[in-house]
Amino acid sequence: MKDLSERLESPNRISSSLPSRDAVSAAAKTDYSRVAGIYEILARAYSGRGIQRSRTALFSVIRPGDRVLFVGVGTGSDAQDALERGATLTLLDRSAAMLNRCRSRLAASAPRRTPVNLQFAHENILEHRPGKKYDVIVANYFLNVFHPDLVPTVLTHLVALLAPGGRLLIADFAPPRGNCIQQFFQRVYYAAPLITFWTATRNAWHGLYDYAPMLEQAGLRISQRTAIPIATFGPLWFESICACRLDDPSP
Ligand SMILES: C[S@@+](CC[C@H](N)C(=O)[O-])C[C@H]1O[C@@H](n2cnc3c(N)ncnc32)[C@H](O)[C@@H]1O
Repeated sequence: MKDLSERLESPNRISSSLPSRDAVSAAAKTDYSRVAGIYEILARAYSGRGIQRSRTALFSVIRPGDRVLFVGVGTGSDAQDALERGATLTLLDRSAAMLNRCRSRLAASAPRRTPVNLQFAHENILEHRPGKKYDVIVANYFLNVFHPDLVPTVLTHLVALLAPGGRLLIADFAPPRGNCIQQFFQRVYYAAPLITFWTATRNAWHGLYDYAPMLEQAGLRISQRTAIPIATFGPLWFESICACRLDDPSP
């Protein structure tokens, strides 16, 4: 498999703007295998069921027969829901340990459907070149892995993988909201995973993202955006986004 930096420097790369060398080399070092065994425990302890609810909040856009790509699927705690909606899934992750956890989880819950509806891809997303495009791409807690310089490259690649009328679903940390005191506490709350994953997985170091301008720059518009609370009644510090192409006529 080509190294990420090699891919980005190749003449037929998809993004028109070059990410910085620092961003590229940092992304090539990110490794979630180190936390695969405790990732879901941490997510649950940190958010109550907030993270899990945000992952599937807009899955009603997934229809039976849809081709759905999960990028950076991790342990796949959201994939079962899409499978139950009758979709055909490609579950992609660069970490073999994460993908193995995902495989075991789904094998335990849907053994009969495994050969027909599921495909696993142990791959860097920027290397992924499917034969057919996808109706839905799910990027849950994925884009925040990347340095801000690299997010446009990744988004442009995802847009290129979307079929006409396709949807990009994102669950992630919400951008700063409320007055300056509320924003201060929101940033403190975000600092815990930032420091943890920067240390343990070499995740990129950056502030809270607002995906709206990034999506627009990549040729997408937001059709639905839902704020999700920590636990049940906590502050609305997670969000779910559904985006479609700017030229898509549907609401
Ligand atoms: C923060 S975790 C998110 C996991 C899961 N989607 C969730 O909702 O929690 C990011 C995942 O993206 C994977 N990943 C990071 N960089 C990647 C890349 N360039 N291509 C594919 N997967 C990548 C990591 O291995 C990890 O499993």
